[in-house]
Amino acid sequence: MAGVIGGRMGSKKRAGDKMTSNEIREAYINFFVERGHKRIASASLAPENDPSVLFVCAGMQPLVPYLMGEPHPLGKRLVDCQKSLRTDDIDEVGDDIHLTFFEMLGNWSLGDYWKKEAVAYSYEFLTAVLGLDPKRLVVTCFAGEGGIPRDDETKEEWLSVGIPEERIFFLGKKHNWWGLPGNVGPCGPDTEMFYDMKPDEPLVHPEEDPERYWEIWNDVFMQYDMREDGTCEPLGNRNIDTGLGLERVSALMQGVPHVYESDLFAPIMGVIRANSSMRGEFAERVIADHYRAATFAIADGISPGNTGAPYVVRRLIRRGIRYAASIGMAEGGLIKVAEKVIDGYSHLYPELIENAEAIVGTLRDEEARFSRTLRRGEKEFASVAAACAESGGATIPGDAAFRLYDTYGFPIELTRELAAEQGMGVDEAGFAESYKSHQELSRRSAEGQFTSGLAEKTDATARLHTATHLLQRALRKVLGEGVSQKGSNITAERLRFDFSHPSKVGPEELRAVEGIVNGAIGMAYDVTMELMSPEDAKAGGAIGLFDGKYDDIVKVYAVGDFTKEICAGPHVANTSELGRFRIVKEEAVAAGIRRIKAVLEA
Ligand code: ALA
Repeated sequence: MAGVIGGRMGSKKRAGDKMTSNEIREAYINFFVERGHKRIASASLAPENDPSVLFVCAGMQPLVPYLMGEPHPLGKRLVDCQKSLRTDDIDEVGDDIHLTFFEMLGNWSLGDYWKKEAVAYSYEFLTAVLGLDPKRLVVTCFAGEGGIPRDDETKEEWLSVGIPEERIFFLGKKHNWWGLPGNVGPCGPDTEMFYDMKPDEPLVHPEEDPERYWEIWNDVFMQYDMREDGTCEPLGNRNIDTGLGLERVSALMQGVPHVYESDLFAPIMGVIRANSSMRGEFAERVIADHYRAATFAIADGISPGNTGAPYVVRRLIRRGIRYAASIGMAEGGLIKVAEKVIDGYSHLYPELIENAEAIVGTLRDEEARFSRTLRRGEKEFASVAAACAESGGATIPGDAAFRLYDTYGFPIELTRELAAEQGMGVDEAGFAESYKSHQELSRRSAEGQFTSGLAEKTDATARLHTATHLLQRALRKVLGEGVSQKGSNITAERLRFDFSHPSKVGPEELRAVEGIVNGAIGMAYDVTMELMSPEDAKAGGAIGLFDGKYDDIVKVYAVGDFTKEICAGPHVANTSELGRFRIVKEEAVAAGIRRIKAVLEA
């Protein structure tokens, strides 16, 4: 067996030859199939019946019921290649080995073989099949903690296959224990395998230098069930659960210095570079990782949104868009990146090609939405950061971070990242507070307890709200400065604006008002916000609505130089987002008060 793989593929390779990722996947599956394992298909990235996690993050996740004791229809030995997505490493993405989405090769024993076979299989696959240098392997074992004994048994197994004592390290629960995020369910001590990328240097502890020692494989001895109350009970079965990172092993086998030069990423990186006007290694890596992850997530029905897994997908896409802008990526470049992912993986994951249209459409929409506000948001951030630095601060205020989130669509993580680039922090507690009070505001207004006129806050209501400002200014231009607001109400469908005026507004006047509003929309005015005293606001020509009721500092929204108004928001960032304004009704509400209902059309 040593030195020869892939009988089923029909291609014989010598150990140590460069292997493609397709060959590695096949070699792994075949190796375990030949040892009595049944191949199972990769599950969707969307966890089934498991609200405790956002994405499937390991091969064992879809197998939890079987690890807990239910018999698997295919028996006690399983093998697969599972799509996995983890966000805990997102800040590391861009280095040589960390990714959000990755493919995990795994083999399982459900109450069948135990440590001896698991260690022997791993060692044989790494050295005899892949031909990795045994002298560069380093392993870690569980040191014992919390009443669970030190795993000397596994050390003995490593010694018996040929790993020398000085390459076996012991660590506690933080490193050598594995269970699902949330810390409930099947878990146990593990043994991790690392490959030394600087074999000529003196050996150090592998956890001290993760760049030097690439973690490639983890064998978990799943024999415990972690309960909600933190107690750990033995499982009925002693199971083996393993996970080998395909991207890392591909890079190793192909003799390239990082995962992005492996055959899994090289074509994607090629598309990024071909569509960008500047080089930026880090940006290219982030885009490649994030867009690959988002493409797979959308294929599994997880589209960008505002909470949970959809929010993570949105973050990945938005971060990708931001880095794409930083290297001058051409319009449509990111879509080509996604198409390359679809192209490169559809032979293994047909859901990509089956959902290609939805993937491209979703990414396009998300890009259209965010690109519009990205530059303005970055400007806004720069001025907040400058003001902050000027006053000697190193922390972006929470309300500014919230405004970036609310008005410009900047996930808090993005603001945090921009701040960190300037050696600044973000007032996270302040952000959370603004976020909460905003939610409270929305709740109260949804319940009709709040009279700002916003029944709910959506993109549609933000557009209609900005249109209301344009309408009030246009009414003043046509009917005179005597017009003042008497009420406002907005739903997702229409705006309703009540104002003082002694008589019916005629059709010509209404058409003139419509024309002025549409003219302002056509001017693509930026909507900007400034904080000032109500006195300064009035002196600057801002329209004020509730004299005498203002706080000491108010928000003044300006729409280009067209109009200025004291207001709480929310607004769009630019009037070009509004579409076409049309008045649908003009009527009387009370003596001297008229009402206009209007809509925005695409
Ligand atoms: N479930 C183990 C891991 O993800 C193999 O590392």
